[in-house]
Amino acid sequence: MILCIGNILTPEQVVRIREALDDGQFEDGRKTAGWHARLVKNNEQMASGSRQAQELRAEVEAALTGHPLFQMAVRPRKMTPLIFSRYRDGMTYGNHVDDPVMGRGDNRIRTDISFTLFLDDPDSYDGGELVTDTTAGEQSYKLPAGSAVIYPSSTLHRVEPVTRGQRRVAIGWIQSTIRDPGQREVLFDLDTARRQIFDRDGKTDEFDLLTKSLANLQRFWAEV
Ligand code: NI
Repeated sequence: MILCIGNILTPEQVVRIREALDDGQFEDGRKTAGWHARLVKNNEQMASGSRQAQELRAEVEAALTGHPLFQMAVRPRKMTPLIFSRYRDGMTYGNHVDDPVMGRGDNRIRTDISFTLFLDDPDSYDGGELVTDTTAGEQSYKLPAGSAVIYPSSTLHRVEPVTRGQRRVAIGWIQSTIRDPGQREVLFDLDTARRQIFDRDGKTDEFDLLTKSLANLQRFWAEV
């Protein structure tokens, strides 16, 4: 399941984050790529050490993990620290698959889900689409500032060259409590259906049964 989630950040937050990134220190993104991804990766990433970078990261992480749709679709167990990436002057990231395991020691995670949160207005730059290669063919994503696309980390994907302006995004990876994308989709659908029933009819017997099934499926499947 690939899902776009709108308005994770408010327009005011986006403006403030963009201003902070204008003053940020960026470095070559190849530092964090595996040996084969390094061959096709050409972008910049914000240096992560400064207090300002840490505060920005914390703000965006809180907005993401606090979003109900993100919780329903991702069911996060662990998350990598966010990375702020920048593409300009023809920068691109060719086809690759993200590393299956990231981090070190206690911070190691299995990457089940990848996300890209767009920070610049789509009209302000040319190119920069995130393209995923799925069994249904290629899908292209270039979302409004403040919106994110989440997709299984098992997906081949690329970022098209940015030929005008700059494309800044926050990216990251999540280990889900539900490892299997098909099982995550079942839970997402059930959760969506029970919320629709609740909104229409309140806490009915049907709602209670769906809630029970949703909880018990998680008892079968969840890794905590
Ligand atoms: Ni990637």
